[in-house]
Amino acid sequence: LRANGLEAWLRYASLPTEAAKQYPRYTDIVALTDSKSSPVSTAGKEVQDGLKKILNQSANIRNKFDPSEQLSSSAIVDEAQTVVIVGQNERGALYGAMEFLMRLAQNQPCPASYASSPSAPIRWINQWDNLDGSIERGYAGPSIFFKDGAVLDDLTRVEQYARLMASVRLNGIVVNNVNSHCNLLNPSNLKGLGRIADAMRPWGVRIGVALYFDTPIELGGLKTSDPLDPDVVAFWNDITTQLYENVPDMLGYLIKANSEGQPGPLTYGRTLAEGANLFARALKPHGDGIVMYRAFVYNHHLDESNWKNDRANAAVEFFDGLDDVFDENVLVQIKYGPIDFQVREPPSPLLAHLRRTRTIIEFQVAQEYMGQQSHLCYLAPLWRTILDFDLRIDGEPSLVKDVVSGERFNWKYSGYAAVVNVGNDSTWLGSHLAMSNLYAYGRYCWEPSSDEAAVVSDWARLTFGLNPTVVDTITQLSMESWPTYENYSGNLGIQTLCDIVKTCHYGPSPAAMDGNGWGQWTRADARAIGMDRTVATGTGFSGQYPAEVAKVFENIETTPDELLLWFHHVPYTHRLKSGKTVIQHFYDAHYEGAENAQTFPVRWEALRGLIDDHRFQHILFHLTYQAGHALVWRDSVNTFYHAKCGIADERHRVGNH
Ligand code: GCU
Repeated sequence: LRANGLEAWLRYASLPTEAAKQYPRYTDIVALTDSKSSPVSTAGKEVQDGLKKILNQSANIRNKFDPSEQLSSSAIVDEAQTVVIVGQNERGALYGAMEFLMRLAQNQPCPASYASSPSAPIRWINQWDNLDGSIERGYAGPSIFFKDGAVLDDLTRVEQYARLMASVRLNGIVVNNVNSHCNLLNPSNLKGLGRIADAMRPWGVRIGVALYFDTPIELGGLKTSDPLDPDVVAFWNDITTQLYENVPDMLGYLIKANSEGQPGPLTYGRTLAEGANLFARALKPHGDGIVMYRAFVYNHHLDESNWKNDRANAAVEFFDGLDDVFDENVLVQIKYGPIDFQVREPPSPLLAHLRRTRTIIEFQVAQEYMGQQSHLCYLAPLWRTILDFDLRIDGEPSLVKDVVSGERFNWKYSGYAAVVNVGNDSTWLGSHLAMSNLYAYGRYCWEPSSDEAAVVSDWARLTFGLNPTVVDTITQLSMESWPTYENYSGNLGIQTLCDIVKTCHYGPSPAAMDGNGWGQWTRADARAIGMDRTVATGTGFSGQYPAEVAKVFENIETTPDELLLWFHHVPYTHRLKSGKTVIQHFYDAHYEGAENAQTFPVRWEALRGLIDDHRFQHILFHLTYQAGHALVWRDSVNTFYHAKCGIADERHRVGNH
């Protein structure tokens, strides 16, 4: 049977007969709600469907419960077989129901009692979908939301997506690209957004939209988009009212402004806060909508000849002095690292600067710099390096995950966003294995201390079945995948050495990293490599961290090897803590990474016959491609640096093929 990729980890595959027999006979499902569109109603149907598929049991659904039933003798006899699922709100009940089913599907009986609550209230997705149906950084076909300038008529895939989101407790989504277009807000699209919201609401998912700052000029015909201009204020108030008429529970607005050529408040001589507050005030009268104001503000025409210039400094500099002036419904959304979703970055220091202004950390499930879903790269281990990092704000424990959860500064509303590029492809992300990142993202928003291997094992069981060989192989390949990718793509904090100039961000192109205005520089010359970001002699970036952390990164001796070239400009002959020189480490790591990637398809081959052939072949194709491309990466990067510095590989591999 051809497995349906659309079901992803929600296949609810039937348990083997012997295992299924261990479970009680569930006869009735009581979904306590009067509303058909309530997540509780959804939960009832989901449980009915899941019981049928997993245990081959047919249960009836009803929406009323007479408390006296509890006293009837048959109910007492059945007590051991009654499962009560309670949420603090309707969504919580749906999450509980889906957890019950996902445990069942893994043949994990329901515990006698169990409770769980989220680390943060904001657990959202950012789609980068364009109105024409293309997706920025999309690698899995066209948009499931838009086509030809309008919202799609058929939103079946959108509903299915909301189901996947609900199963990992993601509760919000911004449906269009941060590089937004004013036509999003034309009258027919406002209605279309209402339909999207209606499709996702039964799954407890609310929608928000990304706005284009110059919409007042381009759609409204005004002369300016100055955030302090009364006509501009009136324009946004009016649009916001219209939006709420169509989407009464709208999450709010995501704003990318003064970034990569986008207009913004600075274009009109106003501060970032004046820009953000414009939208905050438009939202305020309508409910709990927020502005997600992106911290990704930087100059992309930076002059590399000035050694003090540093794109990594931009966010803290641009938001300097603004902590106290944002309206209370503005949250600043910060990419996890100071540059751009690289294979290795330190956490953004802006996370340590905003205390009154609440924040959202931005991850990327879209593997833009991580092999674009053609390479296996399970990202939960990377996210953990960020979330577990202690920023030592004011000399106190300040783990990034505790800042983001709101615990560190006592915020009630903060959390997570991730860029996700699901498309119309039947695998959602273009690759079955890439879906572990979407699954894990939800799990990490809920519980950021989760064990990465346990999370991917759960996902593998749900997606591919309970065979331990299958689960162990997928877990091992996944756990090795990020270090392997880092080894063959960019080591020691030099970033993913991909093509920056053509901006495809795919495949090796170390030469493209320098000589451009984007500021993702390596500063590699014949003698040395790396960015000097120290306060003493460099760009001063290390000084943006709280004192204890700044001290670690300022000093070459205490900077961990994995971030050495992020913070320091060193000769290729500089010795790492491992005793190897930088250049020999490059050569060796690229060989190790590429060599390990060669084992991926071989280890996958051992699963032939243990999963359905369709998905087996699809994944084999991807892993085989990755193994080949890893060799291209290895040789391109090694040959490039060998040519640059002229230092021979101690093991005589580089330059000899
Ligand atoms: C990256 C990405 C762009 C995107 C931008 C952003 O630079 O390559 O496509 O628009 O991030 O996050 O806004």
